[in-house]
Amino acid sequence: MEKSKPNRWKLVTKLVQAGRSDDAGSPLNPSITLSTGFIAGGEYGYARNNHPTWVATETAIGTLENGSALLFSSGMAAFNAVVELLPVGATVVAGDVGYSGIDKRLKELASANRINLNLIPTGDQAAMITAAATADLVWLDTPTNPTIRVWDIRAIAAATAGITAVDNTLAGSLHQSPLDLGADISMHSATKQLGGHSDLLAGALITRSTELLQKLADIRTLTGAVISPFDAYLLLRGIRTLQLRQDRASASALDLAQRLAAHAKVAQVFHLGLPSHTDYELAKAQMCGYGSVFSIVLNGDAAACERVAGATELWSHSTSLGGVESQLERRRRWVNEPIGVPENLIRFSVGIEDVEDLWQDLSQALDQA
Ligand SMILES: Cc1ncc(COP(=O)(O)O)c(C=O)c1O
Repeated sequence: MEKSKPNRWKLVTKLVQAGRSDDAGSPLNPSITLSTGFIAGGEYGYARNNHPTWVATETAIGTLENGSALLFSSGMAAFNAVVELLPVGATVVAGDVGYSGIDKRLKELASANRINLNLIPTGDQAAMITAAATADLVWLDTPTNPTIRVWDIRAIAAATAGITAVDNTLAGSLHQSPLDLGADISMHSATKQLGGHSDLLAGALITRSTELLQKLADIRTLTGAVISPFDAYLLLRGIRTLQLRQDRASASALDLAQRLAAHAKVAQVFHLGLPSHTDYELAKAQMCGYGSVFSIVLNGDAAACERVAGATELWSHSTSLGGVESQLERRRRWVNEPIGVPENLIRFSVGIEDVEDLWQDLSQALDQA
């Protein structure tokens, strides 16, 4: 049986304890069960419907945002499950800049007449609120990947006719609680901060609605977008240290952003902790930290950005984010990146290395821009 968890415990404690058993002789860590079928008459039937190895990880992720969680095979699978809640021809409202995979998928669904898509200029809160009033689904990528803008979750969720879902990936969960702000669903690419080690693909949806939870679980079963037991296990292992990693990485991110703001080769820094950011006040009101991802616009063209990315020794020139190792990339190197993302934008995902080492490497690379 799972240990009971006193409510007075702080989140960091709960994350270390979530999903462990109290039974005499039981393993300290929940085991990986490698079986697709289960003997009839018990709690489990077939591994695509539900799986014992998912339970502890889903408990931990639910604990993070005070809701119930479902694991998926990737962040994209989690997003697609939300869309599957909608009838054909439903109206979906989203920002015109956001994570490129979701942006592309929304446009594909619209051109196949699966949904009616309304993309709102990113940052136009009033237009988003107006559009939300007739939306079946509002999809908010906030902070926006990779331009780091903020949508006003509370105001938009209050105005939404249907479901409000928030992609909470960039905030890394600990720095933003969409469900507390009125959203119906919080989504994660758990591939990023939650896993934290760039070694697994996973997605998660968190909700407080039992009706949505049941529908999403059924969609997961029938679309087959399930996570492997190995990845569910690794994800839980990552979540145990989430707060330590995120505290360290986000402190370093703010420090580096402040130094970059004063650097001659940098035209603009998009970090929500800088008072110069357009969304500084809104971020302060709805977040309790700024995460470990931020972007800059270089004083220079795309080729100069590529020179910087190619000149680092410590920062890895690679895609993805939220791992213990620092990464950077020019996002427009990807053909699907929304055109609202500047050609000379570099996105940084700050890891847990020494911040002076990170700065020295970055400043010598900037010298080569
Ligand atoms: C903000 C955001 N949402 C969703 C995804 C998709 O997640 P996954 O790659 O786990 O499918 C990503 C991936 O980079 C992302 O950055």
